[in-house]
This record gives sequence, structure tokens and C-alpha cells, in this order.
Amino acid sequence: MAQNWTPSSWRHKPIQQVPDYPDLAALSATEAQLATFPPLVFAGEARRLKSQLAKVSEGKGFLLQGGDCAESFAEHGADTIRDFFRAFLQMAVVLTFGAQQPVVKVGRIAGQFAKPRSSNIEKQGEVELPSYRGDIINGIEFNDKARIPDPERQVMAYRQSAATLNLLRAFAMGGYANLDNVHQWMLGFVKDSPQAERYRKLADRISETMDFMKAIGITPETNPNLRETDFFTSHEALLLGYEQALTRVDSTSGDWYATSGHMIWIGDRTRQADHAHIEYCRGIKNPLGLKCGPSLTGDGLIELIDLLNPQNEAGRLTLICRFGHDKVAEHLPRLIRAVEKEGRKVVWSCDPMHGNTITLNHYKTRPFERILSEVESFFQIHRAEGTHPGGIHIEMTGNDVTECTGGARALSGADLADRYHTHCDPRLNADQALELAFLLAERMKGGRDEKRMVVNG
Ligand code: PEP
Ligand code: CO
Repeated sequence: MAQNWTPSSWRHKPIQQVPDYPDLAALSATEAQLATFPPLVFAGEARRLKSQLAKVSEGKGFLLQGGDCAESFAEHGADTIRDFFRAFLQMAVVLTFGAQQPVVKVGRIAGQFAKPRSSNIEKQGEVELPSYRGDIINGIEFNDKARIPDPERQVMAYRQSAATLNLLRAFAMGGYANLDNVHQWMLGFVKDSPQAERYRKLADRISETMDFMKAIGITPETNPNLRETDFFTSHEALLLGYEQALTRVDSTSGDWYATSGHMIWIGDRTRQADHAHIEYCRGIKNPLGLKCGPSLTGDGLIELIDLLNPQNEAGRLTLICRFGHDKVAEHLPRLIRAVEKEGRKVVWSCDPMHGNTITLNHYKTRPFERILSEVESFFQIHRAEGTHPGGIHIEMTGNDVTECTGGARALSGADLADRYHTHCDPRLNADQALELAFLLAERMKGGRDEKRMVVNG
């Protein structure tokens, strides 16, 4: 199926969301320079993720994918990365306990810089400027100069991704993720939050289990699964010139891989079957995500699956559904039925963020209840259809921001101004993310009990 595919064949297709670079020679020079840089990730790692996702597609695991809507150059500190990783690990441990299944951990990090926009223009008062498209393309400041796309930013994004990935690898493999630290992952502000007691109880149970295992000789020193964790990176493959420059042949298999991140996904605005983004993604072997919004039909989805996963390989494709709390019941069942009818192997994941954005007090926000409601419906619909609700995809941070309303602390519209820091869409703060994980864990536990009743009854 991958006939005539090359890393640059997307250039002959129609394309959406292209930045208006004023100096195309400078852009080409940057892409040529990036093509000489080392890969950020290795093909073997992408294959490992794919095999873990294959298990999820068979109902034997759960995908946790999350991170910033857009990473920024300004907020590239060790503390931000550590706090994110810590919040993410807390969520993962809660979910592992709830699901009693392995949780596949994929960050929206170390490459999540390019943003699709609904409008090419941003208007403030009487002034109109090109929209901000992510730090890899232009600057967020509202002035002429900042908004001009600058290729040099691609080199900065590459270098930031490398540094972030380096720290993440150290956290994941160097002892921080050791389950003996489960109490230490409690964040300063989560400590005093309504989630603290719940988390502490769970951490106590894990510690107790660890003590028992140590007594019988299974320790973090002897067992890497207790000491280390697999943590993978992902981002939207929007800026295809950058992706192409980092597309490399894997010497082991002879296949092409995107080496900008382990998993890449196609956004809801750039998933036209005959366009450039699908063309690029069909030729690389990484695990892929496909955002599925309300406009996607069952036939349209099967056409895309034919292009992206013609061999029906398990773990290759994750469908990231993002309909909105009030639309999920209308759209998800028909997509599930189309996929089931054709016997396609996919991971079903729920992005409860992008269909639930509203404007409140001039801020883009997302009410926590709506996020929760979409996740709940996602689970119920899968239960009813007999398919596996395989994962969630969220925008979150480890910091104490005030970007989404609601949650146990009942953040209101008036609180948004306090710490609204996102460079694009509103994220769950660490407290809200953990609350979501606990609620999810309860649903998963419910599903398990139901299954047992069916088996026994
Ligand atoms: C995103 O994930 O940040 C995004 C823009 O999503 P979507 O393509 O689903 O709108
Ligand atoms: Co977003």
C-alpha cells in the first residue's frame, strides 16, 4: 500500500495549517541542518511501545497519554518537567491499581510544540496579526515581529526536546520512578488537597505490598519492574518539514521511522485522506494516533485505517476520540460499530479535553464536570458495545495552575485569572489530574467486578 512513499512524498499533496515562512531558503537550510542531527528516539523503542499498545488493543492494558497542550521555550525548567513526571506517575499508579492491568505511559512532551489553529488571524481590539502556531513556529507575544514564522525555532525545539528527553530518561530509569518512592511523589500542593488522603492510603497499600515482596526476596534491586518504568514521548506531527528532517531508516529493519518522538498523532484538522499529513504518517512505522472528532464518518474512518494500518497490525493505531460531553453518545457508537464490523485492531482512547472548551471571563477553559462526563460516557458506551475503553488522552501539568474550572477545589470562573499560564489550551492541574485518575480507577474496578459477575453468574 505504501506505494511511492518517501519521507518527502507529502510535499506533493494538498496541506492544511502551513505557516507562512517569509524566507523559504532559510527554511530549507534549517531542515537540511536538522537532517544531520542525531535522532531523538530509536526505532526499537517505538517498536516496544507498539507491542505494549498491541496488548491494550486486546483489552490487556490501559494507555495514559498526557501533558501540555503546547510546550514552551519560556517554561523549560527541571522543576516543571519533574512536577509533570511526578503527577503523571501518581496518575499511573492509581490507574494500575484500579485497572489491575499495565498502564502504558506516553507523555505529550519532548516535541509537542506545533499547534493547529482554527483561524489564521488573531484580532485584539483593532489590531490583526497572524495567529500564534506554537513555539516551534512563532512567538506568542502579540506583536508583528514575534508572529513572523522563524525556522531557527525548529532548532531550538529540537534541542529543548533532547534536553527534556534526557531528564525524562533519567527519571524513568535512574531511580525516581522506583515504587519505593510512591509516598515521595506527593506534590507540595497535592499534599493539602482533597486527593491527599486517598493517595496516601493507596501509597500505604503499595508500600505494604512492597514490604511483603521484599520479605520473599523480590526487591527493586533484583526486579527492574519495581525500579524503573517505560516512559514514552508523543506529539502531533503537524510541522511536516521538521518531521521529515528527523525521519530515518532503522538499520535493523530497513524501515522508516519518525525519530522526533515515539508516537506521533494526526490532528482533527489535518486528517483528510488525500492530504499531506496522512501521506507522511502512512509511511513511517511508529505507533500512530488519529484524532477523531464529530465530523468523522464511519466510512471515512475505515478509509483512514486502510491508509494508516493496511496490515491491521495491533498497536499501530490509536483512535483518540474527542467529541465533547454532549456529542460522544451520538458519534462514538457508530465509529465503534464501523471498526468492529471490519474487524480492525485499534486502541480506543478518550480525549475529553478538545470537545469541551468554552470561554469564560475571556479565558478559554474546560469545566471539570464536562471532562469527567465525556470520560464516563466513553466507558459506558464501550461497555455497551463490548469493546475495550483502552485509554485517555489529556492536557495536564504538574503545576498548580488555574485553567480548568471545577474539581474538588471547585475552581470558579473568577479563579482563572490567578494562575492561567498555558500557551494554548487549558490544562488540568496536578490536583484535578489525580482526581480524574481516582474516578477512572473506580470505573475500571466497576468494569472488572461486572465482568466477574458475568463469568460467575
Ligand atoms: C491537541 O491535541 O492539542 C489538538 C489540537 O487536538 P485536536 O486535533 O483533537 O483538535
Ligand atoms: Co490542545
